[in-house]
Amino acid sequence: MARSKIALIGAGQIGGTIAHLAGIKELGDIILFDVVDGVPQGKALDLSHSAPVHGFVPKVKGANEYAEIKDADVVIVTAGVPRKPGMSRDDLLEINLKVMEQVGAGLRKYAPEAFVICVTNPLDAMVWALQKTSGLPRNKVVGMAGVLDSARFRFFLSEEFDVSPQDIHAMVLGGHGDTMVPLIRYSSVAGIPLADLVKMRWITQKRLDEIVQRTRDGGAEIVGLLKTGSAYYAPASAALDMAESYLNDEKRVLPAAAYLNGEYGVKGIYAGVPVIISAKGVERVIELDLSSAEKDAFMHSVESVKALVELCQRIAPNLA
Ligand code: APR
Repeated sequence: MARSKIALIGAGQIGGTIAHLAGIKELGDIILFDVVDGVPQGKALDLSHSAPVHGFVPKVKGANEYAEIKDADVVIVTAGVPRKPGMSRDDLLEINLKVMEQVGAGLRKYAPEAFVICVTNPLDAMVWALQKTSGLPRNKVVGMAGVLDSARFRFFLSEEFDVSPQDIHAMVLGGHGDTMVPLIRYSSVAGIPLADLVKMRWITQKRLDEIVQRTRDGGAEIVGLLKTGSAYYAPASAALDMAESYLNDEKRVLPAAAYLNGEYGVKGIYAGVPVIISAKGVERVIELDLSSAEKDAFMHSVESVKALVELCQRIAPNLA
């Protein structure tokens, strides 16, 4: 059987890290694409030099031509600019929207069958734009945010409880921004709801609220420390988790920015919700039974995504 083909659009920090992980995991042959000449080629050569050490067989190739992504099974898009200190993800909108137009045209022409995972920020608006510009089916274009945001929530909780992060389940809904909704009621330690852990005096409600806020600010905390860019190790791992579920038909239940067509009373935009990812792409959007406070928080987040999508439509009326 032929190996899968994974195309990475954007050979920067996240793209390069995904390529390394995908090689080590032997997920498929990798095309690293970038507009900058030499960078994807140099990174591909460097990564190839790690193949004998790790003993992986898949090929890694750098490219500046979209023709090289032809017939890719999975495309992960990180092309664009990342945040600098003081910037919000939304500040990237105008520049990255133009990038999505180019990437969408490349996908439409060369990889119309691919499962596409968008990572570029502001995430929920950019994945919307990418689906529009590529014309690919909505269930084959998703955004990566929830796996990362819930991983951050899980890590902070694991530190707090001093237990393995593996045993912590967490759910984060909504847009990938300040309004994201870490769902306490759907998060647990080995099945023990967080509310019970408050009753069991493992944690106070106040401390839990602080952790929720730190999760929301997780990306900004890293931007503040790095000063020259944004997080890339965990975003790369999270994007690959989604790709593996598609490639191996794992039917993982993961939070992702998915196209909403009436679910949660929302239509026509992307927002973070739990989905099942199988070989069909997004096989199902899971509609949680939210409390009225959770619903309000989710809708508040959806409103901020809608505002960004409207801004995209004003900048590029052809996407309306
Ligand atoms: N087509 C292809 N690649 C592009 C384009 C384009 N039109 N414009 C920029 N790029 C490339 C850059 O040359 C760079 O190599 O995208 C890459 C982005 O890499 P980094 O600047 O290292 O950014 P990274 O940290 O990988 O983050 C990428 O993901 O999480 C988001 O906010 C983050 O939007 C940012 C994206």
